[in-house]
Amino acid sequence: MPRELITIQAGQCGNAIGSRFWQQLCQEHGISRDGTLEDFAIEGGDRKDVFFYQSDDTRYIPRAILVDLEPRVLNSIQTGPYKNIYNPENFFVGDDGMGAGNNWAAGYAAGERVQEEIFDMIDREADGSDSLEGFMLLHSIAGGTGSGLGSYLLERMNDRFPKKIIQTYSVFPDTAIGDVVVNPYNSLLTMRRLTQNADSVVVLDNGALSRIASERLHVQEPSFQQTNQLVSTVMSASTTTLRYPGYMHNDLVGIIASLIPTPRCHFLMTAYTPFTGDSVDAAKTVRKTTVLEVMRRLLQPKNRMVSITPPKSSCYISILNIIQGEADPTDVHKSLLRIRERRMANFIPWGPASIQVALTKKSPYLQNTHRVSGLMLANHTSVATLFKRIVVQYEKMRKRNAYLEQYKKEAPFAEGLGEFDEAKEVVMDLIGEYEAAEKDNYLDSDAGQTKTDGA
Ligand code: GTP
Repeated sequence: MPRELITIQAGQCGNAIGSRFWQQLCQEHGISRDGTLEDFAIEGGDRKDVFFYQSDDTRYIPRAILVDLEPRVLNSIQTGPYKNIYNPENFFVGDDGMGAGNNWAAGYAAGERVQEEIFDMIDREADGSDSLEGFMLLHSIAGGTGSGLGSYLLERMNDRFPKKIIQTYSVFPDTAIGDVVVNPYNSLLTMRRLTQNADSVVVLDNGALSRIASERLHVQEPSFQQTNQLVSTVMSASTTTLRYPGYMHNDLVGIIASLIPTPRCHFLMTAYTPFTGDSVDAAKTVRKTTVLEVMRRLLQPKNRMVSITPPKSSCYISILNIIQGEADPTDVHKSLLRIRERRMANFIPWGPASIQVALTKKSPYLQNTHRVSGLMLANHTSVATLFKRIVVQYEKMRKRNAYLEQYKKEAPFAEGLGEFDEAKEVVMDLIGEYEAAEKDNYLDSDAGQTKTDGA
């Protein structure tokens, strides 16, 4: 029985990465642009039904709900090459088509107004699945719609589907660019919901994505199209064990259970190697890829899709490496020994210091230039550095009372600015939790106890 996942993509960024993800899944499973199976797609052994269902005429349709408050990106999906794969009833565009103007509060308030229509779509998709495992939310935390409306949906989904897993792929802003001036406000408010209402958050940071894209793909200023290619590669690799199931990690709960020992520390970093670019010749150079080489590269901070300098005290809580391609279990075993001998990964003192490995197959329908490739999903305490950065930037703006007027106009702030203070408290607690997790008495400490007990 498949454990189905429903994907909700919200805002410009969420829909842009979502449409790239669906394109990738179609290519990997041999699904054509109109949803029919390609003639060559006869291999079987894959589970298309986790992410797709079949219509009466047997076309594959993504279990996807596409939400935005302005029509531009959704229009481009509806006129793009994969326009025919989506269920046309699953597009939601706000009535006034104005977007949320990079204002979390406007997005959240809009969520409250339009929730009925969106939950009709979500309920219809949930009713259409046999054994729904959960939801994936794709969004950016810096703008207005993906962050604000996304936050509203996270809260309501938690109430409505308390037993279902909620995983998010959350794009954090590139703080060096500051393309959204008020991103610290929006990020902090969204972080509260990611902490309280999601089971697992895959953190992708635009600063790191741009750096990796420019280094690996040899381009000066990578476009969103190029960074989204990296994101869809990560998303597809992190779902391979669900789509090409083996005996372990074949549902989301299995992956989460192996990576998240205490519920609040549920923010995951990723690394992927080797990256190639379809459109960039220079990036196509083929290196020798061995399991050890791939696992070694995955541990290098420069390959992480989060741009932080890990503090000395930081350490891994857990690691799951998803290795795709021609990998022999003996090679994996030897590589793990080597990594341990050389102390390449520093783990928390209160749990098993081991790297978990899932070997999966690659799509037989895509040309593979590399023998082996790998994705690391890692729970690492240094992720708190990213949250600290958001709090510091938030405080700087808040001290100057900058840009607060536009927030005060919206419903969540009708009673004052308490939302901000509560969000800051939640994020500070989370930072404290990661710091406590670096100590060997974590499970005895108050923080660890509450989390383990209060799951
Ligand atoms: P409103 O525009 O206010 O309605 O909200 P929104 O959720 O549509 O905003 P958006 O998704 O554009 O969020 C802004 C943040 O997302 C900025 O930090 C952008 O750099 C980032 N962003 C926007 N589009 C993309 C994209 O296609 N890929 C990536 N990686 N980041 C994006």
